[in-house]
Amino acid sequence: MTGTRSSPAGARRSGGSHPVRAVKSRVRLLRPAPLTTPEELRRLLDSGPGPVLLDVRTPAERVLARLPDDRWIPLEELPSRIGELPRSRPVVVYDHLGSRATRAVELLRAGPRAPVTALEGGLDAYSRRVDPTIPRYRPDPGDPQVLVQFPRPGTGCLSYLIADRDSGGALMIDPGLHVTPYRRMARTHGWTIRGIIETHTHADHLAGHAELHAKTGAPIGVSHRSPAQYPHRALSEGDAVEFGRLELVVAETPGHTRDHLMLQIGDQAFTGDTLLPGACGRTDLGDGSPDLLWESFETKVLTLPDSVEVLPAHYGPRQGLPPPCRFSTTIGVERATNEALQLRSLVEFRRYMTEGWPAKPKDFDTIVRTNLAR
Ligand SMILES: [Fe+2]
Repeated sequence: MTGTRSSPAGARRSGGSHPVRAVKSRVRLLRPAPLTTPEELRRLLDSGPGPVLLDVRTPAERVLARLPDDRWIPLEELPSRIGELPRSRPVVVYDHLGSRATRAVELLRAGPRAPVTALEGGLDAYSRRVDPTIPRYRPDPGDPQVLVQFPRPGTGCLSYLIADRDSGGALMIDPGLHVTPYRRMARTHGWTIRGIIETHTHADHLAGHAELHAKTGAPIGVSHRSPAQYPHRALSEGDAVEFGRLELVVAETPGHTRDHLMLQIGDQAFTGDTLLPGACGRTDLGDGSPDLLWESFETKVLTLPDSVEVLPAHYGPRQGLPPPCRFSTTIGVERATNEALQLRSLVEFRRYMTEGWPAKPKDFDTIVRTNLAR
């Protein structure tokens, strides 16, 4: 906003001594940047290598959502980094709503190069019109909820920060040990982390609830079935965990572990390790049970509508691949394709859950004990 307001003022100042140059400058600045519509971009990406996608937003915005396989140069760095972009390939510049992208196009068009355009309507329009898998971090007017997913490549884990933009209240789900990114994100947007929830006792990584609690004072919520030794709120079926004027509703989904919870808000479900993209969490690291997991699928997870977005605690089979903008799936996709959900009987499911899994991690029992003690 500051740059938009200051540019005309700058033109008026220079116009006092060089009116002709000022007029020319204004004409150049007002020349409309060529645009690529979301539909055109989708066609280009689907039909070949496509143009170079250039994101010119800030780091905080980029964490919230982005186009896959893009390049990233914040607008303020673009003048000094133009040389990083190939001159022979078309470039489509994008930001959130389109205004900064048009300014970037002006910069790029100053020199000889293949066509440069701005994405019409920005990432918001692209998500709305052609690819709803791109998260809309500024959703429909009136929707106060915003969700940030934090992938952790070292472990393949996913953490979530969900906030009520109206009140600034936020909840952290399954935080990793390194809590600085969560706090930085909350600070950037003026959110206050008011609660921390562990969907279950993790056996594959050290959880970050203790560190985040120490930094923020936010209370920790875990299942009433959890043997956690630290102070916590014991959550049960149907409990609501409030953040601002929004709330997550708790469903107990034992199986991967006895203390597993699923958290729901609107048409989104945080399924932890109960349901992963294409798979489910194993039941042999600790106190899990194939029978309980089967029951949780039958009575809880698969009773959700197909349209519900599934937000898991692990990448699932995509682990190790370049991250998409958001690791998520839907109940409908999983119901139709997830190998764990194609089994017809409990007997088959028991066999599936007990045969063919990798060896247990050496230190999983130590990790479990540590996570429960802190
Ligand atoms: Fe797990």
